[in-house]
Amino acid sequence: MNSRFNINAVLIALLAFAAGFLAANIFHYGWEGSMMPYQQYRFPNKAEYSSNGEMIFMTGVNEREERIPFTAGPQWLYMHGGGCASCHGADGRGGIYPMMCGIRTPDIRYSTLAEMHGMSDEDIIRAVTKGVDDEGEQLDLCMPRWQMSEKDIRDVIEYLKQLS
Ligand code: HEC
Repeated sequence: MNSRFNINAVLIALLAFAAGFLAANIFHYGWEGSMMPYQQYRFPNKAEYSSNGEMIFMTGVNEREERIPFTAGPQWLYMHGGGCASCHGADGRGGIYPMMCGIRTPDIRYSTLAEMHGMSDEDIIRAVTKGVDDEGEQLDLCMPRWQMSEKDIRDVIEYLKQLS
């Protein structure tokens, strides 16, 4: 056996491992969930959003170009950033299994939260900033606890009203 052969064998084994890893991830989290950690490498541009609420929802960055700090949430969110849309979908309807979470995200359109679940705006604010649901239970740690200003959270709620 020459050393050339050995190196090729190692490379093929590594490639096969990487391909298997990718396939297993896609199988486990779905295409959308598995792609999450790779979504936001570019800092968001304010000009692309029609409101502060939309910008925060989509990117986790507000119109003053401040990344909204949070506690809890998965590690990839700290590394690559992302907004509500990263886990609840751009349409807010949820149904996604975020990578590293092991839980399916709920629908957070205002109509669903307010009309179906009977949540008040204050309940929604508590869920988003404190991670506590309307019955006082802690939400799963996959849901980040967002340290948002009063204005920012009100703007996000206004945006949730636009999702239908
Ligand atoms: C890393 C993924 C992730 C991100 C990002 C995220 N969420 Fe969540 N969110 C979740 C998960 C998972 C749950 C469900 C937690 C549970 O059921 O215990 C949840 C629950 C919620 C709930 C409670 C819904 C209910 O029916 O009680 C609200 C409201 C919510 N999220 C709003 C937001 C908003 C607004 C943002 C953006 C500022 C956001 N989330 C960003 C994962 C995420």
